[in-house]
Amino acid sequence: MEYLTNFFLPSAESTYATQVDALFHFINIVSLILLVGITFAIVYFSIKYRRKSQEDTTPVITHNTTLEVTWTVIPLILILIVFGWGFKDFVEMRTPPGDAYEVHVTAYSFGWDFEYPNGVVSANTLYVPEQTPIRLLMRARENDVLHSFFVPQFRLKQDLIPNRVTTAWFEAKRTGEFVYFCTEYCGAGHSIMNGLVKVLSQEDFDAWLEEEAGRDLDALPLAELGRITFTSAGCAGCHSLDGSSRVGPTFQGLYMAERQFTDGTSRIADEEYLLESIIYPQRQINVGYPNNMPTFYGDTLSERELAGLVEFIKELQ
Ligand code: CUA
Repeated sequence: MEYLTNFFLPSAESTYATQVDALFHFINIVSLILLVGITFAIVYFSIKYRRKSQEDTTPVITHNTTLEVTWTVIPLILILIVFGWGFKDFVEMRTPPGDAYEVHVTAYSFGWDFEYPNGVVSANTLYVPEQTPIRLLMRARENDVLHSFFVPQFRLKQDLIPNRVTTAWFEAKRTGEFVYFCTEYCGAGHSIMNGLVKVLSQEDFDAWLEEEAGRDLDALPLAELGRITFTSAGCAGCHSLDGSSRVGPTFQGLYMAERQFTDGTSRIADEEYLLESIIYPQRQINVGYPNNMPTFYGDTLSERELAGLVEFIKELQ
Protein backbone atom coordinates (compact mmCIF):
# COMPACT_ATOMS: atom_id res chain seq x y z
CA MET A 1 0.00 0.00 0.00
CA GLU A 2 2.91 2.32 0.79
CA TYR A 3 4.27 1.69 -2.70
CA LEU A 4 0.86 2.36 -4.23
CA THR A 5 0.49 5.64 -2.31
CA ASN A 6 3.87 6.94 -3.41
CA PHE A 7 3.31 5.81 -6.96
CA PHE A 8 0.13 7.87 -7.38
CA LEU A 9 0.60 10.72 -4.93
CA PRO A 10 3.28 12.78 -3.20
CA SER A 11 4.10 11.64 0.35
CA ALA A 12 1.37 12.35 2.93
CA GLU A 13 2.76 14.92 5.38
CA SER A 14 -0.23 16.44 7.18
CA THR A 15 -2.35 14.74 9.80
CA TYR A 16 -5.37 14.38 7.53
CA ALA A 17 -3.46 13.55 4.34
CA THR A 18 -3.64 9.76 4.82
CA GLN A 19 -7.43 9.94 5.28
CA VAL A 20 -7.77 11.91 2.05
CA ASP A 21 -5.65 9.31 0.27
CA ALA A 22 -7.65 6.40 1.70
CA LEU A 23 -10.89 7.71 0.21
CA PHE A 24 -9.14 8.56 -3.05
CA HIS A 25 -7.83 4.99 -3.32
CA PHE A 26 -11.22 3.52 -2.33
CA ILE A 27 -12.94 5.41 -5.16
CA ASN A 28 -10.20 4.42 -7.61
CA ILE A 29 -10.26 0.74 -6.67
CA VAL A 30 -14.08 0.50 -6.75
CA SER A 31 -14.08 2.25 -10.15
CA LEU A 32 -11.41 -0.14 -11.43
CA ILE A 33 -13.37 -3.22 -10.28
CA LEU A 34 -16.56 -1.89 -11.89
CA LEU A 35 -14.73 -0.98 -15.09
CA VAL A 36 -13.17 -4.42 -15.46
CA GLY A 37 -16.38 -6.25 -14.44
CA ILE A 38 -18.69 -4.30 -16.72
CA THR A 39 -16.30 -4.39 -19.68
CA PHE A 40 -15.88 -8.12 -19.26
CA ALA A 41 -19.67 -8.66 -19.02
CA ILE A 42 -20.34 -6.56 -22.15
CA VAL A 43 -17.77 -8.44 -24.22
CA TYR A 44 -18.75 -11.85 -22.84
CA PHE A 45 -22.50 -11.41 -23.34
CA SER A 46 -22.05 -9.81 -26.76
CA ILE A 47 -20.27 -12.92 -27.95
CA LYS A 48 -22.36 -15.49 -26.08
CA TYR A 49 -25.77 -14.11 -27.03
CA ARG A 50 -24.97 -12.77 -30.48
CA ARG A 51 -27.40 -13.67 -33.26
CA LYS A 52 -25.84 -16.80 -34.64
CA SER A 53 -27.90 -17.09 -37.85
CA GLN A 54 -30.87 -15.56 -39.66
CA GLU A 55 -33.05 -18.36 -38.26
CA ASP A 56 -31.99 -17.74 -34.64
CA THR A 57 -35.23 -17.34 -32.68
CA THR A 58 -33.87 -16.94 -29.10
CA PRO A 59 -36.41 -14.63 -27.36
CA VAL A 60 -35.26 -11.06 -26.62
CA ILE A 61 -35.45 -10.31 -22.89
CA THR A 62 -36.53 -6.70 -22.23
CA HIS A 63 -36.97 -6.74 -18.46
CA ASN A 64 -35.62 -8.38 -15.31
CA THR A 65 -36.66 -6.86 -11.99
CA THR A 66 -34.15 -8.72 -9.81
CA LEU A 67 -31.28 -7.67 -12.04
CA GLU A 68 -32.41 -4.06 -12.22
CA VAL A 69 -32.87 -3.74 -8.47
CA THR A 70 -29.43 -5.26 -7.94
CA TRP A 71 -27.61 -2.88 -10.27
CA THR A 72 -29.41 0.07 -8.75
CA VAL A 73 -28.96 -0.82 -5.10
CA ILE A 74 -25.25 -1.76 -5.25
CA PRO A 75 -24.13 1.58 -6.83
CA LEU A 76 -26.46 3.42 -4.43
CA ILE A 77 -24.76 1.80 -1.45
CA LEU A 78 -21.32 2.60 -2.90
CA ILE A 79 -22.25 6.22 -3.48
CA LEU A 80 -23.68 6.57 0.02
CA ILE A 81 -20.42 5.17 1.43
CA VAL A 82 -18.40 7.68 -0.62
CA PHE A 83 -20.70 10.51 0.47
CA GLY A 84 -20.65 9.64 4.18
CA TRP A 85 -16.90 9.01 4.20
CA GLY A 86 -16.17 12.16 2.19
CA PHE A 87 -18.47 14.31 4.33
CA LYS A 88 -16.85 13.13 7.55
CA ASP A 89 -13.34 13.92 6.22
CA PHE A 90 -14.47 17.22 4.70
CA VAL A 91 -15.89 18.44 8.00
CA GLU A 92 -12.67 17.48 9.72
CA MET A 93 -10.56 19.28 7.11
CA ARG A 94 -12.70 22.41 7.42
CA THR A 95 -12.72 22.51 11.24
CA PRO A 96 -9.45 23.57 12.83
CA PRO A 97 -8.83 22.57 16.46
CA GLY A 98 -9.64 25.44 18.82
CA ASP A 99 -6.04 25.99 19.86
CA ALA A 100 -4.73 26.40 16.30
CA TYR A 101 -1.88 28.86 15.65
CA GLU A 102 -3.08 31.57 13.27
CA VAL A 103 -1.17 32.91 10.27
CA HIS A 104 -2.56 35.59 7.96
CA VAL A 105 -1.84 34.94 4.29
CA THR A 106 -2.03 37.62 1.61
CA ALA A 107 -1.55 36.73 -2.04
CA TYR A 108 -0.85 39.25 -4.79
CA SER A 109 0.39 39.26 -8.36
CA PHE A 110 2.92 37.66 -7.93
CA GLY A 111 3.86 36.64 -4.43
CA TRP A 112 2.79 35.79 -0.91
CA ASP A 113 3.00 37.44 2.50
CA PHE A 114 2.68 35.39 5.67
CA GLU A 115 2.01 37.37 8.83
CA TYR A 116 2.43 35.86 12.30
CA PRO A 117 0.62 36.84 15.50
CA ASN A 118 3.53 39.01 16.73
CA GLY A 119 3.55 41.11 13.54
CA VAL A 120 6.47 39.40 11.81
CA VAL A 121 5.94 39.03 8.06
CA SER A 122 7.75 36.50 5.90
CA ALA A 123 7.59 36.79 2.12
CA ASN A 124 7.06 33.71 -0.02
CA THR A 125 8.19 31.25 2.67
CA LEU A 126 5.74 30.04 5.29
CA TYR A 127 7.38 29.02 8.57
CA VAL A 128 5.40 26.79 10.92
CA PRO A 129 6.12 24.60 13.94
CA GLU A 130 5.70 20.83 13.49
CA GLN A 131 2.85 18.89 15.10
CA THR A 132 0.86 22.06 15.71
CA PRO A 133 -2.46 22.86 14.08
CA ILE A 134 -1.99 25.93 11.86
CA ARG A 135 -5.00 27.97 10.81
CA LEU A 136 -4.57 30.13 7.71
CA LEU A 137 -6.66 33.28 7.32
CA MET A 138 -6.28 34.07 3.67
CA ARG A 139 -7.09 36.84 1.23
CA ALA A 140 -5.88 38.28 -2.03
CA ARG A 141 -4.83 41.93 -2.09
CA GLU A 142 -7.52 44.46 -2.88
CA ASN A 143 -7.96 44.99 -6.64
CA ASP A 144 -5.87 41.88 -7.28
CA VAL A 145 -7.10 38.62 -8.80
CA LEU A 146 -7.87 35.16 -7.45
CA HIS A 147 -4.98 32.97 -6.32
CA SER A 148 -4.99 29.57 -4.70
CA PHE A 149 -2.75 28.08 -2.02
CA PHE A 150 -1.88 24.46 -2.73
CA VAL A 151 0.46 22.22 -0.74
CA PRO A 152 0.34 18.81 -2.46
CA GLN A 153 2.03 16.91 0.39
CA PHE A 154 -0.48 18.32 2.90
CA ARG A 155 -3.46 17.62 0.57
CA LEU A 156 -4.36 21.26 1.22
CA LYS A 157 -5.81 23.64 -1.35
CA GLN A 158 -7.78 26.84 -0.86
CA ASP A 159 -8.58 29.86 -3.04
CA LEU A 160 -7.70 33.40 -1.97
CA ILE A 161 -10.12 36.11 -3.02
CA PRO A 162 -9.85 39.93 -2.83
CA ASN A 163 -12.05 41.47 -0.11
CA ARG A 164 -12.99 38.13 1.34
CA VAL A 165 -11.36 35.95 3.98
CA THR A 166 -11.07 32.25 3.32
CA THR A 167 -9.64 29.79 5.80
CA ALA A 168 -7.81 26.48 5.84
CA TRP A 169 -5.86 24.52 8.40
CA PHE A 170 -3.26 21.79 8.57
CA GLU A 171 -0.93 20.11 11.00
CA ALA A 172 2.44 19.05 9.64
CA LYS A 173 3.56 15.66 10.95
CA ARG A 174 7.29 16.28 10.78
CA THR A 175 9.92 18.93 10.12
CA GLY A 176 11.01 19.50 6.54
CA GLU A 177 10.46 21.67 3.48
CA PHE A 178 7.33 21.26 1.41
CA VAL A 179 6.62 23.02 -1.86
CA TYR A 180 3.46 25.06 -2.27
CA PHE A 181 2.03 26.37 -5.53
CA CYS A 182 -0.42 28.98 -6.69
CA THR A 183 -2.96 26.81 -8.41
CA GLU A 184 -5.30 29.43 -9.85
CA TYR A 185 -4.11 30.80 -13.18
CA CYS A 186 -3.56 34.44 -12.25
CA GLY A 187 -1.42 36.06 -14.94
CA ALA A 188 2.06 36.20 -16.42
CA GLY A 189 3.74 35.44 -13.08
CA HIS A 190 1.54 32.50 -12.12
CA SER A 191 4.24 29.93 -12.77
CA ILE A 192 6.69 31.59 -10.39
CA MET A 193 4.12 32.05 -7.62
CA ASN A 194 5.36 29.14 -5.57
CA GLY A 195 7.55 28.69 -2.53
CA LEU A 196 8.27 26.59 0.52
CA VAL A 197 6.48 25.71 3.70
CA LYS A 198 9.32 25.29 6.18
CA VAL A 199 8.22 23.09 9.06
CA LEU A 200 10.53 23.61 12.04
CA SER A 201 10.69 22.12 15.50
CA GLN A 202 8.83 24.26 18.06
CA GLU A 203 12.20 25.38 19.44
CA ASP A 204 13.59 26.45 16.06
CA PHE A 205 10.33 28.14 15.14
CA ASP A 206 10.27 30.19 18.37
CA ALA A 207 13.89 31.18 17.81
CA TRP A 208 13.19 32.22 14.22
CA LEU A 209 10.15 34.26 15.22
CA GLU A 210 12.06 36.00 17.99
CA GLU A 211 14.99 36.81 15.72
CA GLU A 212 12.69 38.27 13.05
CA ALA A 213 10.78 40.34 15.60
CA GLY A 214 13.97 41.73 17.12
CA ARG A 215 15.50 42.93 13.90
CA ASP A 216 15.85 46.69 13.95
CA LEU A 217 15.35 47.69 10.31
CA ASP A 218 16.08 51.36 10.95
CA ALA A 219 19.56 50.56 12.15
CA LEU A 220 20.55 48.60 9.05
CA PRO A 221 22.77 50.04 6.31
CA LEU A 222 20.68 50.96 3.22
CA ALA A 223 21.93 48.17 0.97
CA GLU A 224 21.29 45.59 3.70
CA LEU A 225 17.77 46.97 4.21
CA GLY A 226 17.33 46.78 0.43
CA ARG A 227 18.29 43.10 0.44
CA ILE A 228 15.57 42.38 3.02
CA THR A 229 13.05 44.58 1.19
CA PHE A 230 13.82 42.71 -2.04
CA THR A 231 12.34 39.62 -0.39
CA SER A 232 9.73 41.17 1.89
CA ALA A 233 8.18 43.40 -0.80
CA GLY A 234 8.02 40.47 -3.19
CA CYS A 235 10.51 41.79 -5.81
CA ALA A 236 12.07 38.32 -5.73
CA GLY A 237 8.92 36.96 -7.33
CA CYS A 238 9.68 38.60 -10.68
CA HIS A 239 13.35 39.72 -10.59
CA SER A 240 16.31 37.37 -10.28
CA LEU A 241 19.72 38.21 -8.87
CA ASP A 242 21.67 35.75 -11.00
CA GLY A 243 21.18 37.17 -14.49
CA SER A 244 18.29 34.91 -15.44
CA SER A 245 15.14 36.41 -16.92
CA ARG A 246 11.92 35.96 -14.97
CA VAL A 247 8.71 37.98 -15.35
CA GLY A 248 10.84 41.12 -15.06
CA PRO A 249 14.49 41.89 -15.89
CA THR A 250 17.22 40.55 -13.61
CA PHE A 251 18.81 42.93 -11.10
CA GLN A 252 22.28 41.56 -11.77
CA GLY A 253 24.30 44.11 -13.72
CA LEU A 254 21.27 46.36 -14.05
CA TYR A 255 22.90 49.45 -12.54
CA MET A 256 24.28 51.75 -15.26
CA ALA A 257 23.25 49.35 -18.04
CA GLU A 258 21.50 50.79 -21.09
CA ARG A 259 17.80 49.91 -21.12
CA GLN A 260 15.68 49.75 -24.29
CA PHE A 261 12.01 50.67 -23.99
CA THR A 262 8.96 49.69 -25.98
CA ASP A 263 8.43 53.29 -27.11
CA GLY A 264 11.78 53.17 -28.93
CA THR A 265 13.72 55.26 -26.43
CA SER A 266 16.59 54.11 -24.24
CA ARG A 267 18.18 55.24 -21.00
CA ILE A 268 21.03 54.44 -18.65
CA ALA A 269 19.83 52.71 -15.46
CA ASP A 270 21.19 55.22 -12.95
CA GLU A 271 19.83 55.88 -9.46
CA GLU A 272 17.12 58.15 -10.77
CA TYR A 273 15.94 55.55 -13.27
CA LEU A 274 15.91 52.76 -10.67
CA LEU A 275 13.86 54.81 -8.21
CA GLU A 276 11.46 55.94 -10.91
CA SER A 277 10.97 52.37 -12.11
CA ILE A 278 9.91 51.26 -8.63
CA ILE A 279 7.55 54.17 -8.06
CA TYR A 280 6.16 54.49 -11.62
CA PRO A 281 6.74 51.06 -13.21
CA GLN A 282 4.34 51.76 -16.07
CA ARG A 283 6.21 54.81 -17.41
CA GLN A 284 8.87 53.03 -19.40
CA ILE A 285 8.47 49.37 -20.31
CA ASN A 286 11.59 47.34 -21.03
CA VAL A 287 11.56 45.62 -24.41
CA GLY A 288 10.62 41.97 -24.01
CA TYR A 289 8.81 42.31 -20.69
CA PRO A 290 5.11 42.67 -19.83
CA ASN A 291 3.70 45.85 -18.34
CA ASN A 292 2.44 44.28 -15.14
CA MET A 293 4.60 45.47 -12.26
CA PRO A 294 2.51 46.87 -9.41
CA THR A 295 3.24 50.39 -8.18
CA PHE A 296 5.36 50.49 -5.03
CA TYR A 297 4.56 53.80 -3.52
CA GLY A 298 2.44 55.32 -0.79
CA ASP A 299 1.84 52.74 1.94
CA THR A 300 3.81 49.97 0.30
CA LEU A 301 7.43 51.04 0.83
CA SER A 302 9.00 53.69 3.03
CA GLU A 303 11.45 56.25 1.62
CA ARG A 304 14.26 54.38 3.36
CA GLU A 305 13.20 51.06 1.83
CA LEU A 306 13.07 52.65 -1.63
CA ALA A 307 16.56 54.09 -1.19
CA GLY A 308 17.67 50.73 0.20
CA LEU A 309 16.45 48.88 -2.88
CA VAL A 310 18.38 51.24 -5.16
CA GLU A 311 21.56 50.76 -3.11
CA PHE A 312 21.03 47.01 -3.12
CA ILE A 313 20.66 46.93 -6.93
CA LYS A 314 23.80 49.08 -7.30
CA GLU A 315 25.81 46.39 -5.48
CA LEU A 316 24.73 43.64 -7.87
CA GLN A 317 27.40 44.06 -10.52
CU1 CUA B 1 -1.37 33.41 -8.25
CU2 CUA B 1 -1.57 31.78 -9.98
